[in-house]
Amino acid sequence: MSVEKMTTFQLEKHVDYIKSLDKKADFDSVVMEHLRMSGAYWGLTAMDMMHSLDDMDGDEIAAWILKCQHDCGGFGGNLGHDPHILYTLNAVQILALFDKLDVADADKIANYISGLQKDDGSFAGDEWGEIDTRFTYAAVNCLSILKRMHTINVQKATDFLVRCRNFDGGFGCTPGGESHAGQIFCCVAALAIMGALHHVDKDLLGWWLCERQVKAGGLNGRPEKLPDVCYSWWVLSSLVILDRAHWINKEKLKDFILNCQDQDRGGISDAPDDAVDVFHTFFGVAGLSLLEYPGIKSIDPAYALPVHVVDRIFFRQKC
Ligand code: FPP
Ligand code: ZN
Repeated sequence: MSVEKMTTFQLEKHVDYIKSLDKKADFDSVVMEHLRMSGAYWGLTAMDMMHSLDDMDGDEIAAWILKCQHDCGGFGGNLGHDPHILYTLNAVQILALFDKLDVADADKIANYISGLQKDDGSFAGDEWGEIDTRFTYAAVNCLSILKRMHTINVQKATDFLVRCRNFDGGFGCTPGGESHAGQIFCCVAALAIMGALHHVDKDLLGWWLCERQVKAGGLNGRPEKLPDVCYSWWVLSSLVILDRAHWINKEKLKDFILNCQDQDRGGISDAPDDAVDVFHTFFGVAGLSLLEYPGIKSIDPAYALPVHVVDRIFFRQKC
């Protein structure tokens, strides 16, 4: 394969790959069934960044999302599946993508989310009570989009995240948990949305994050781990929020992501020559978006939605 071809973003092929996922009834779709809501969010957000959201049927998708909502206000990962805060965030994000937030009952969703906050400020993911900083991010992002932040105790939510901060500047799942780039994204993005970034030591954490870049150009999630395209998002979005993205070699990261494309059938994989999936396709496109790759719409590093969608929510701009 020529160098020229390897370094080009295959936009049309990725669009066709995402469109094809809807029709597939293979092993992947069975594995994905319980997290179809997340799959839809990854695929549709990537489609929007690639200027192709109009190819998808927003009315049909919004109707399916509403059918996944339970009486408690939370959304399941698919029809007939239990509600969870992560799928609730994804449902709201997808409605925002299609400018259809008004079809959802914001108070009902906010009531579900605020009911998951614990006395120490943390959030459970669902009625079973597992605690994780991922769930704080989901709560804060979702309530901010719905303009219902006042339904939770923001000070306590902030205090809990600060208790999850480690000596290396990073954050873990719960207090005392090891720093991990995925959790760092959740904590930094949630603090950014709550206007509490002053709790982050930007230089110390920025240093830990930029050390995630390996020789091959890709980023890993923890010391000694292999690079993986999804960390182009977890690490780079955190660096952008901290204003330290210039501390990594952007050119090498771009080449790493481009080398993870399936040049023939479209889609992006976790590492070169692995099988593609919609999760890594989204994070690859999102990483390239943060790197300002030409022809890809900008994504907001905290809300994980295209910037024009975030602007529409908060500034009611026509776009
Ligand atoms: C690593 O996953 C990633 C995380 C722990 C962060 C996950 C964050 C969310 C689900 C919140 C929603 C996110 C968005 C963008 C809307 P992994 O389990 O693959 O980690 P590993 O590489 O250690 O296996
Ligand atoms: Zn990955």
